[in-house]
Amino acid sequence: MSEKKEKDEEKEYKLSDLPGIGPSSIAKLEAAGIYDLMGIAVMTPSDLSELAGIGEAVARKAIQASRKMMKLGFFDGLEFAKKREEVNFITTGSENLNSLLGGKGVETKAMTEAFGAYGSGKTQLGLQLSVNVQLPVEKGGANGKAVYIDTEGTFRPERIRQLADALGLNSEKVLKNIFVARAFNSDHQILLIDKIGEMIKNGEPIKLVVVDSLTAHFRAEFTGRGQLADRQQKLNRYLHTLMRLAEQYNLAVYVTNQVMANPAMMFGDPTTAVGGNIVGHASTYRLYLRRGKKDSRVAKMIDSPNLPENETIFYITANGLRDEA
Ligand SMILES: Nc1ncnc2c1ncn2[C@@H]1O[C@H](COP(=O)(O)OP(=O)(O)O)[C@@H](O)[C@H]1O
Ligand SMILES: [Mg+2]
Repeated sequence: MSEKKEKDEEKEYKLSDLPGIGPSSIAKLEAAGIYDLMGIAVMTPSDLSELAGIGEAVARKAIQASRKMMKLGFFDGLEFAKKREEVNFITTGSENLNSLLGGKGVETKAMTEAFGAYGSGKTQLGLQLSVNVQLPVEKGGANGKAVYIDTEGTFRPERIRQLADALGLNSEKVLKNIFVARAFNSDHQILLIDKIGEMIKNGEPIKLVVVDSLTAHFRAEFTGRGQLADRQQKLNRYLHTLMRLAEQYNLAVYVTNQVMANPAMMFGDPTTAVGGNIVGHASTYRLYLRRGKKDSRVAKMIDSPNLPENETIFYITANGLRDEA
């Protein structure tokens, strides 16, 4: 399996291969559950500095080195092309937003993260995708069902009905094809993911997993500075589980991540999402959403491996996400 091969090649390097990471740092990192380069690659310099007891400059170098080493996990072009062929896309309902995402919407075998302030449209996109995933492939769906992990109690069946009606779909059927679970804390949220593999093995054609919100429970439960290591470790493991699920079952993962409504951020680098870089580097696509002029929404693509940073506008209408109000 190419996936296994890729992992094996990644594993050739160890923590001890990183510059500035000595035995005592390794012991501290391992105590925090970080055993491999991936764990380092997704950290911020300040997090690594704190966890490993090293200076920030040293930490930054170690992170850079880990990212370089990880890229050495090649697999041949034919294998790669084959992997890509199976990929499905789920339309967002807005051509603008689809284009921003590379043309056809949210993709399977990948994780798409939307981060933004309260009311920016993160949940609306999740609901819309849960309906659209059920469309046939030629209509922009994946002919599949959705799992919706709701941590904030914002899943609205009435809204699903509205979105389904607008597409001429049977709204009862559409609702039946969305498995909703309310996650009450981060442990519960993690447990729920384990059930998805089981459901798929039992024949449920799940093609989309929504986690709305990915980070709210983690943020609420790990508040102290001293708990940072625990939080990052748990979040890191969770994200890996989600990515594995996406790869293994050819499904799309969509997660939301609320950022503080900090007006200063609009002019700077909007990367103060909860969870910091740990989420950023695990996500294949990161969308930054914000309110624009006249009820529009502005979406910006941040940090994607194959797309330029770009911005577009869409609207949340009674019928769902559209290019026009
Ligand atoms: N039926 C609807 N018709 C038009 N706009 C809607 C409708 N439902 C929700 N919205 C818009 O979506 C916004 C909420 O977006 P939401 O996705 O819940 O934000 P968040 O980013 O906090 O998850 C509302 O403020 C409203 O502008
Ligand atoms: Mg929301």
